[in-house]
Amino acid sequence: MPLFSLHPKETTEDLFGREQEIKELINLVREKRWVAILGPRMVGKTSLIKAANRELKRMGIKAVYINLWGVRGAHGLLNAIAEGLNREEYTAED
Ligand SMILES: Nc1ncnc2c1ncn2[C@@H]1O[C@H](COP(=O)(O)OP(=O)(O)O)[C@@H](O)[C@H]1O
Ligand SMILES: [Mg+2]
Repeated sequence: MPLFSLHPKETTEDLFGREQEIKELINLVREKRWVAILGPRMVGKTSLIKAANRELKRMGIKAVYINLWGVRGAHGLLNAIAEGLNREEYTAED
């Protein structure tokens, strides 16, 4: 992976200085809390979520990343969730 890529990082190792935030996010998810991650564009929100998801999967907790950008209505939402779940089935590491 190139050093400067515009894509979100996917692992804790690739994310610089977010160890504490990843731990906090994992703990909140494990406590079944609703969490919103807010911040300016490009600050690393998606990367934080993807890295935490990877750790959660390692712990045996199912985590699905769904991008709702441009999704409209209940039908669109259900479609996006179904697609996310399907994708997860095929990309599961274990
Ligand atoms: N802590 C970090 N360490 C390394 N790269 C980061 C970090 N946070 C963000 N980036 C990089 O910055 C860019 C934007 O990250 P992204 O997660 O897409 O942000 P957001 O979802 O907040 O817009 C990506 O190229 C990502 O790899
Ligand atoms: Mg993002």
